[in-house]
Order: sequence, then structure tokens, then C-alpha cells
Amino acid sequence: MESVSVASTQNSVSSSLSIPSITLGTMKIGRRKGTEIVQKMITNGFHSLDTAPTYKNEDKIGEALNNISKSCVDIFIIAKVPKRACDSDQVQEEFENTLKNLNRTCVDLLLLHWPSDVIAQNTLKEVWDCMESFVKDGRCKALGVCNFNENALAKLLKCCTVPPVINQVERHPLLPQHSLVDFCARNNISIQAHTTLGQGREEILQNTRIMEIAKDINCTPAQVLVQWNLQHGVLVVTKCSQEVHAKEILSIIDTKKKDTILLSPKHMKALDGLGNGTRFIAPPFMYGNAIYCWGKRMPIMKS
Ligand SMILES: NC(=O)c1ccc[n+]([C@@H]2O[C@H](COP(=O)([O-])OP(=O)(O)OC[C@H]3O[C@@H](n4cnc5c(N)ncnc54)[C@H](OP(=O)(O)O)[C@@H]3O)[C@@H](O)[C@H]2O)c1
Repeated sequence: MESVSVASTQNSVSSSLSIPSITLGTMKIGRRKGTEIVQKMITNGFHSLDTAPTYKNEDKIGEALNNISKSCVDIFIIAKVPKRACDSDQVQEEFENTLKNLNRTCVDLLLLHWPSDVIAQNTLKEVWDCMESFVKDGRCKALGVCNFNENALAKLLKCCTVPPVINQVERHPLLPQHSLVDFCARNNISIQAHTTLGQGREEILQNTRIMEIAKDINCTPAQVLVQWNLQHGVLVVTKCSQEVHAKEILSIIDTKKKDTILLSPKHMKALDGLGNGTRFIAPPFMYGNAIYCWGKRMPIMKS
């Protein structure tokens, strides 16, 4: 599977970490069928999983990993420190629970899920120092963040010793985040796009321009959305629970396939210009006057 290499620090030795270009999202895969879905998706070719304590299914993913490990498949694991963990004791406790639930002694990447509470409570450095201690003791290979804007990243970069290697943020043509992508590139931080398919909503999958481009290059709108990110050098995390969806998404990076999906410069430019500020994930705590906020007021959400 295709991957992007980033610098990582483990046991004080700099090395390179290969992050698969497409990761399976596990939010909303649920608990009842969680284990079965994750195993099925790994069998279909996903070699990387994005997890979080707040998805309330780490143990179900752990079961899947336990069953799969019998066939020696090496799966890249992304875990998260939840928003509720605002001091080092809470971060320790959360991470120990995560490792136990996932049936792992170590994860590949540990991400700080939200910038809000740790910045508001002035504990960003304490929380990040604690995350750095997991890199030093070998329980995770590299660190990253989610949903950080430029100001929040600048604040973190000033106080960290182990810098973040990725910023996982919502990104699709309706929210291209050009300036954040440039800022991250200048600071050696890879972007990983979440909600790439707009949670499967018509607003994006049936967008007229995206559908036209899909028709032009003989693929589906979902493939256009993933490929647009990949062609920008952006990693993707997307949730699939149906095999037909997984096959469609993973075929984009199938090196054995002859007819590869490629967006022309004209298509890329058209997609780059579709931004209209649509956010499918817009929690109220990310709006206001604080430096980590995405805007002063919450956008009006369509039902
Ligand atoms: N860090 C953060 O704060 C944050 C926030 C949001 C999400 N995430 C991560 O990103 C992952 C992805 O985001 P998401 O789950 O919100 O939404 P998403 O990946 O944008 O969309 C998932 C939806 O798209 C459907 N889908 C998948 N492949 C498709 C295809 N080829 N054609 C049409 N529809 C397709 C899925 O259907 P089926 O399930 O039926 O296959 C599902 O309903 C999450 O699971 C989570 O791991 C992180």
C-alpha cells in the first residue's frame, strides 16, 4: 500500500515512519458489528486504523486486531488523547486504557484530539510533555494533532521537543483549508484529511461539479474526493463499513490496477476553487474568540 514517510523520534533515535496514504476511520462503526467490520476492512486491504476513546469501540477494534494478528498482518494504528484529558495524570490513564483496549503494547501515532480544553486550561505543554514521554519509553512512535488551526499549531511548536508529524483535519473541496495546508507544509507537518466524503452526504457526493469531474475521468465522486487529497500530498482517513465502498476507495492506490485515476491540472484547479466554508464537523466548542477557534460564530448547519 502507498504511504508517506515522516520523521519520527523513538528512544531518542530519529527514524522515518511510513504512514499509509489511506486509513480506515472507525468513528460510528459502532460496537455490535465493530469487530466484524474492522476485520472485513483489513481483509479488503486497509492496513491502517484511526481510533479514539470517544468512538467507544477501541475494545472491539482490539478484538479484531487480536484475531487478525494470528495471520501476522502488520496494521498501522492511530490512537488519540481525548479532549477530556487535560493533565498528565489523565493523559497517562487514558493512554493506558487505550493500549489495553487495543490489545497493543505500542501504537504508531498518538494524536491530541482537540486543541480547545488544553489551551483554555493552559495545560497544552503539560499534556504534550506527557505524550512525549510515551515516545521516549517506546509506547508510541510519533505524535500528532487533530483540528488545530495555524495559531494553535504555532503555540504547540513553540513549546514542544517532539514536534507533531501530522494534523488530522476536515478537508474536502468544499473546505480545502489551503492556508493551513501551506502552513503545515512549511513546518514539516503532514495533513491527514478526515470527513473526506462529507460523512457520505449528498451535499458533497452529489455536488454537480464533482459529479461532472467523476464522469470525465470515469470514476465515482467518492474516488474524486480521495484522489484530490492524495494529489495534493494529503493523507486520507475515511470510514467504510461496506465492502463495495472499501473496494472503490482502495482501488485508487492499487498499484496492480492498469487504469489509474488521475485528475488533470484543470480538474484540480476546478476542485480547488469549490471552497464555501462547509464543515460537516463543527462542534460549538471550536467557535468563539479563543486562538484555537475556527471562527467567531458557529456555521448554520443544514439538517
Ligand atoms: N480527528 C477528528 O476530530 C475526526 C473527526 C471526524 C472524523 N474523524 C475520522 O475520520 C473518519 C472518517 O470520517 P467520517 O466517518 O465522519 O466520514 P467520511 O469518511 O467522510 O464518510 C463516511 C461515509 O461515507 C460512506 N462511504 C464510504 N465510501 C464510500 C464510497 N466509495 N461511496 C459512497 N459513500 C461512501 C460510508 O458508508 P459505509 O460506512 O456504509 O461504507 C460512510 O457513511 C472517522 O471515522 C474518524 O476516524 C476524525
